[in-house]
Amino acid sequence: MYRMLKALSVVLSVSLVCSFVVTTTAVILEQRQQRNHYLERIRHILAAVGVDAEDQDAITLYREAIDAVLIDLRLDTDIDPSPLPEFLQPDTFDFLAASRHPDYSETISPGLIGLKRRPRYMPVYFVRGEEGIDRVIVLIVGKGLWSTLQGYLALEKDLVTIAGIRFFQQGETPGLGGEIASPRWQSLWQGKQAFDPDGQVVIEVVKGPVDPDSSHQIEGISGATLTSRGVNQMVRYWLGPDGYGPFLNRLRTRGD
Ligand SMILES: Cc1cc2nc3c(=O)[nH]c(=O)nc-3n(C[C@H](O)[C@H](O)[C@H](O)COP(=O)(O)O)c2cc1C
Repeated sequence: MYRMLKALSVVLSVSLVCSFVVTTTAVILEQRQQRNHYLERIRHILAAVGVDAEDQDAITLYREAIDAVLIDLRLDTDIDPSPLPEFLQPDTFDFLAASRHPDYSETISPGLIGLKRRPRYMPVYFVRGEEGIDRVIVLIVGKGLWSTLQGYLALEKDLVTIAGIRFFQQGETPGLGGEIASPRWQSLWQGKQAFDPDGQVVIEVVKGPVDPDSSHQIEGISGATLTSRGVNQMVRYWLGPDGYGPFLNRLRTRGD
């Protein structure tokens, strides 16, 4: 009897120690994973404006230079995100989770960007300069050929010129559609005009060579017409009247 009790107590102690170790490791790993996700996100946001920063520098830069806000796409204004769930917070925004939630999403006309729903709220990142807001970064999402593409598009202070683009999520074929995430293709966007003087979206990804006199055409990727078309549609949609267009117009007229 005594032996059995002793064996039982050994088994219990070992399992207690093991469960403690496993739980502690899981908690530590989860924290680390969250930190890595956060880091990855802010590095992509910074990369959209041409800043390539390592971990701690990225965090410092992001905190010092970026104001992340949540805008209501219907009201064209920013709102207080604090009562909203984590997937709607600008720093932890999850487009797909927000699109799935019936309270926080709405349907999109079929065929526009290949998605059925989109969030009612979207994050916008303001880059602070020495004299106020320097650049504005928006999240853009749409379907490519095989996958959902997500990227950050940065506009210069004039809210017309493209400062940069960064695709941080895509599952297109490497060497074909996957080229949208290459530095070479992304660099083609810099300096292009997204809007005409009337505020209409003019930026477009074209098949074949661009008109050398055009300031708003991007050459599509050869052999990846469908991915290129997806990018064209998503950029035009998000900058247009159903996306950030009205919000950007308000910013332009407010002049800040
Ligand atoms: C294995 C394979 C992978 C492909 N991956 C892509 C892709 O990622 N993006 C894309 O637009 N087209 C891709 N395509 C090509 C499309 O099927 C289609 O032919 C192409 O988009 C037409 O573009 P083009 O007119 O520039 O040739 C792929 C084709 C094959 C056979």
